[in-house]
Amino acid sequence: MIAKYIDLNEIKSDKGSLVAIENISDMPNFEIKRVYYIYNTSKNEPRGFHAHKDLTQIAICINGSCNILLDDGKTKRTFKLNKPNKGLVLDKMVWHEMSDFSDDCVFLVLADNIYDESDYIRDYDDFIERVHNASP
Ligand code: TYD
Repeated sequence: MIAKYIDLNEIKSDKGSLVAIENISDMPNFEIKRVYYIYNTSKNEPRGFHAHKDLTQIAICINGSCNILLDDGKTKRTFKLNKPNKGLVLDKMVWHEMSDFSDDCVFLVLADNIYDESDYIRDYDDFIERVHNASP
């Protein structure tokens, strides 16, 4: 699994920093259709535990830090997100689990489609079966 980090352009001045996201040059086909963010998290309450059949997302920890485990059914890797100008691509058919949220964590996600519960795979065994059926 090649996890892809996206560098977001940070515009720095003595007034502070600004990141503007219109389109992602590394991912020309990625069109932002939804933005959501997670906050008031708890260090001991991991989230996620699902994969998407067809949704691609980019996760950015715009404040604080957290860990995210990515699992494509063959390889698992944990990444630390702690920079507001660094995104991590959550590709379709990648199981993900977010954990170890700092108290001040704000976890922002850009998604290329609107919310659709039928796109979720929330059962890990089902996810593994689908991965194996796609590439036996
Ligand atoms: P869920 O994706 O299960 O959260 P997490 O993976 O972070 O644990 O979503 C939690 C709830 O929020 C669930 O009831 C679905 C709802 N939800 C929306 O209504 N719209 C959205 O865009 C998202 C991401 C979730």
